This record gives sequence, structure tokens and C-alpha cells, in this order.
Amino acid sequence: MTPSDYEYLRKFLRDHSGLDLSADKQYLIESRLLPLARKAGLSGIGELVQKLQGGSGALITNVVEAMTTNETFFFRDKVPFDHFRDTIMPEVIKARAGRRSVRIWCAAGSTGQEPYSLAMCLREMGAALTGWRVEIIATDLSQEVLEKAKSGVYSQFEVQRGLPIQMLVKYFKQTGETWQINPELRAMIQHRQLNLLHDFTQLGTFDVIFCRNVLIYFDQDTKINIFNRLARQIEPDGFLVLGAAETVVGLTDTFRPIPDRRGLYKPNDQRAAAAPRPALASAPPRMAVMAGR
Ligand SMILES: C[S@@+](CC[C@H](N)C(=O)[O-])C[C@H]1O[C@@H](n2cnc3c(N)ncnc32)[C@H](O)[C@@H]1O
Repeated sequence: MTPSDYEYLRKFLRDHSGLDLSADKQYLIESRLLPLARKAGLSGIGELVQKLQGGSGALITNVVEAMTTNETFFFRDKVPFDHFRDTIMPEVIKARAGRRSVRIWCAAGSTGQEPYSLAMCLREMGAALTGWRVEIIATDLSQEVLEKAKSGVYSQFEVQRGLPIQMLVKYFKQTGETWQINPELRAMIQHRQLNLLHDFTQLGTFDVIFCRNVLIYFDQDTKINIFNRLARQIEPDGFLVLGAAETVVGLTDTFRPIPDRRGLYKPNDQRAAAAPRPALASAPPRMAVMAGR
């Protein structure tokens, strides 16, 4: 790969997905894009770059998706889900007791383990949420990971990563070598393709936003821009949850960390958070009404 091919791909990826590659990541490009180039019948990275410059639509999507890192697992890092159960949801239940509904956005939800972990946490809350309307929207840039998330089918290896055995038995059905999450949990989640670089006001306003392990790949300006736009999509008393290597500190004052709750943030700027609410997208939202047990 020539230096100019590399520079072209760095800029291309920054513009299309936010991915910020340092000057020494040629090996990463080669390991991810050479197989893709070969599959497309191209001689190598040079020809791939030429095709991209020509504006080939499907190839653009394939290159962007091949460069995303989709690593995820059930109850990843555990602590955010403890916070969700012990801090976030008790507060939401109290604050929304009047309207009995909660909206949760799992931005960059990858293959679904994160939104399904949230759905399992909610199910485990039992009577506290009976009769509540619960909406979980899981979004990701990659259509490929979304298809898997929608199917709710996981390998033996995937269900062994982070998922307590009681949850596996309770919420999954084994079919041959794979495990499928039960239809009730699948029905709690709406999966949508969404690039965080683009406008997301159409999603409406949320009580809780999980946006974990995606901003680490972006440069500072992109992070700041996304934090500021997230602040407009969160209720003034809502919660933002970030990954272990991510923080708003030093980047924006639209959110503030909650002391002793690592990874948890509250919106600061009440005026931004209280800005006029955009209408919801035209399709009726899929909401689960939590049944009693
Ligand atoms: C490392 S995974 C994190 C998954 C999950 N949030 C977790 O913490 O386990 C990062 C995800 O971000 C998605 N992603 C990357 N760039 C994105 C963008 N610009 N907009 C939305 N999603 C993006 C990738 O497709 C990938 O599925």
C-alpha cells in the first residue's frame, strides 16, 4: 500500500465512520481490507482505493463495515449493568411513576449482547415494572451486526462470555449448536441502522443512553460533537453510560460524572436537554408492555 493510498483510506474512514487511525495502522488496513479486495476481484489495496475514488456504493459500505470493531459480550464489564439495576432504574422508576414508561437507547449495540443484557436486567426487575411501557432502541452503523442482533442467535462461545448460566437457561433456547434468545426479549428491542456521525434527532428523547466502547475510536472533535448532540436527546434527569476507557471529562461540560458511579453521567445543561423535542420517526415505536409474573 502506498503512503498516499493509506492517507486516502484514513480520511475516507474518518469521514464515513469517525474511525481515527494513527499514522502507523497500515497493518490493520491490510489485514481487514485485503481479503475484501480479493473477494471483490481486485488486485490489492491500490485498486480498492481507485474504486472507492470512483464512488462505488456497495464497496464503500463494505470497507466501512470491515473496519469497524464489533467486539462485545453479554454484561460486558458487569459494573454498568449493576449501575443500571441499582442506580439508574430505581431513579427512573421513581421519576416516571406517573407515566410508567421508559425509553432506552443502546447506541452502537453491535451484535445485540448489550441491548439484550439490558432487556434481561429489566425482566429481572419483575413486579417493579409490571404494566410499564419499555422501549429499547439498539442502533449500529453496521447492517451486518444488526442482522445478527435481530436474529438473537448466538454460538456456544458467545453465550459463555459474561452470561450467567441461570440467565442462559431462563432466557435462551438451544437449537443444535446455537442458542436463541426468547421471543419476549427480542420483542423488547427495536434495531435500527444509524451512524453516530449523522443526525439522530429523529430518535426522540431518552431516559437512558448506553454509548459504550465506540467513542474510543473517534478523534476529540468528533467525540465532543457527539456528546453535545447526545445531551439534546437525553431527558434532563436522564443517564448517559460510557465505556470504561471513555469519559466526558476535559471534553465537554454538557454532562457531569456521577461520583462513585464509574461510567455514569448526568446531563448538565438543562436548557440544551430541555430543547424542543423532535417528533418520533414515522414508524410506530415497538414498545414492550411488561407483564406481571
Ligand atoms: C466495540 S463495539 C461496542 C459494542 C457495545 N457497545 C459494547 O460495549 O459491547 C463498537 C460498535 O460501534 C459500531 N460503530 C462504529 N462506528 C460507528 C458509528 N460511526 N456510528 C454508529 N456505530 C458505530 C461498530 O459497528 C461496532 O458494532
